[in-house]
Amino acid sequence: MVQPEQADARQPVLAVRDITKTYGGVRALSDVSLELMPGEVHCLAGENGCGKSTLIKIISGAERPDRGEIVIDGVAHPAMDPAGAIRSGIQVIYQDFSLFPNLTVAENITLTSAVADGKRLYSAAALRPAADRIVAELGLDLDLDADVERLTVADRQLTAICRALVHEARVIIMDEPTTALTHSEVARLFALVERLRDRGVALVFVSHKLDEVLEVSQRVTILRSGRHVVTAAAGELSPAAIAHHMTGREINEERVVSALPIDAPTVLDVRELNLAGAFEDVTFSLRRGEILGVTGLLGSGRTEIAEALFGITRPDSGTVHVDGAPLTGHRIEDAVRAGIGYVPEDRLTQGLFLEKSIADNIIAGSLDRHRSRSRLLDRARVRSTIQSLFERLKVKAPNTRAVVRSLSGGNAQRVVIAKWLATQPKVLMLNGPTVGVDVGSKAEILEILRNEAERGMGVIVISDDAPELVSCCHRVLIVRRGRIVHELAGDDVTVSRIQDRMAA
Ligand SMILES: Nc1ncnc2c1ncn2[C@@H]1O[C@H](COP(=O)(O)OP(=O)(O)OP(=O)(O)O)[C@@H](O)[C@H]1O
Ligand SMILES: [Mg+2]
Repeated sequence: MVQPEQADARQPVLAVRDITKTYGGVRALSDVSLELMPGEVHCLAGENGCGKSTLIKIISGAERPDRGEIVIDGVAHPAMDPAGAIRSGIQVIYQDFSLFPNLTVAENITLTSAVADGKRLYSAAALRPAADRIVAELGLDLDLDADVERLTVADRQLTAICRALVHEARVIIMDEPTTALTHSEVARLFALVERLRDRGVALVFVSHKLDEVLEVSQRVTILRSGRHVVTAAAGELSPAAIAHHMTGREINEERVVSALPIDAPTVLDVRELNLAGAFEDVTFSLRRGEILGVTGLLGSGRTEIAEALFGITRPDSGTVHVDGAPLTGHRIEDAVRAGIGYVPEDRLTQGLFLEKSIADNIIAGSLDRHRSRSRLLDRARVRSTIQSLFERLKVKAPNTRAVVRSLSGGNAQRVVIAKWLATQPKVLMLNGPTVGVDVGSKAEILEILRNEAERGMGVIVISDDAPELVSCCHRVLIVRRGRIVHELAGDDVTVSRIQDRMAA
């Protein structure tokens, strides 16, 4: 029997050894080992579906490994259960934060710990000092009396972190914590991460944004197809080296835009579109084969413009023409009939049926296009559409019958895009098309959009990822406080110009 030892700086607070996990026939992890030292930020990186979330679920006791062990303070555990993991000081902050929306911040921070401690009688008032203390210690500007449902995403995240600390977390694991945050919120989170590190907490950080990863972490572990590839000090890695370890190949992030034919006709024409409180005087056009970037800070109105074009909201005034024909009606059906498609920002709640198969999701929006003249479904054509999009988008799943819920984040995103490509829209708007997508897949998704544009589609990419816009857009519109304030085209489309104009 191994005795627990005093935690010191050289002994890992947590180690996983030779973890293997299979789901049905899918090998999610093969013999993965990892050590976490107190006071380090350790980034877990790798392509979509490489096993990051699975490893986290095993550490937190949400899933059992087939083989391998978890070692905490020198004591080996063949498997964790969720309560045991929490008692050992392991806390996972998932993307939904698992908070109670109708309770206050203070209650969320403390109540679950009271429940975990098995105290059957507790009063919020008695627990309040614990919440006060954590918030004060971390120097956070968080209103403890606010209901959680009224908080911004960033403040919910802080609440979840405070709750983790009330549990005396020694390991805090965050799965893609920055995807829904603005730049200043990310800076605030990173400042907090520094303070937690100073207190000796070990942090595991999962992110697809490699520049962020290198900024915040001391060590980086990269997985590929469920296997450990490398663990190295962040200072020894460049973004290109990480991308190479992740994918095993070179990733081209250079600007690749085809020359548009001079006579390419206008496919979308938007004139003086207004929606009070959201945007004003929005006028632009898009040509067939063109990829147009729309960018601006969170809250600038970029999403509201797309939602109005897609019939989710109704503009107060203005006109929209698709292929020269006026868009009449302002419902989603009208937009779809006119040939507009929209991949929303929040794909998991707005874009997909999670309990349905990949095949059902791909075909969901285009059944009518697959009917014969006698209105019968052409099953052979349905199958071939599904299969060809599944292959073109390289969705990583055993086959098209797999349910979407079992897919990793980036693969779910490919299914949403496949669904819209199946409808063959004239104009496809994508909001954050590569959020949560790994570098390799990101390059592939942008390549797919370039190919669709070359086949004649008009594409609008809404994104705050400047390198992504530069790599694929013919033109970029910059939206600030509901107005298009700049247009960059040709050689003016550069990362520094976009970032300057966004912030100015
Ligand atoms: N419940 C499940 N049933 C079947 N397969 C699963 C299940 N959970 C995960 N998988 C599979 O295990 C593999 C690893 O998935 P995981 O979610 O760990 O990837 P990830 O690295 O977190 O990816 P992403 O960056 O896209 O979030 C994938 O092939 C995924 O489809
Ligand atoms: Mg994941």
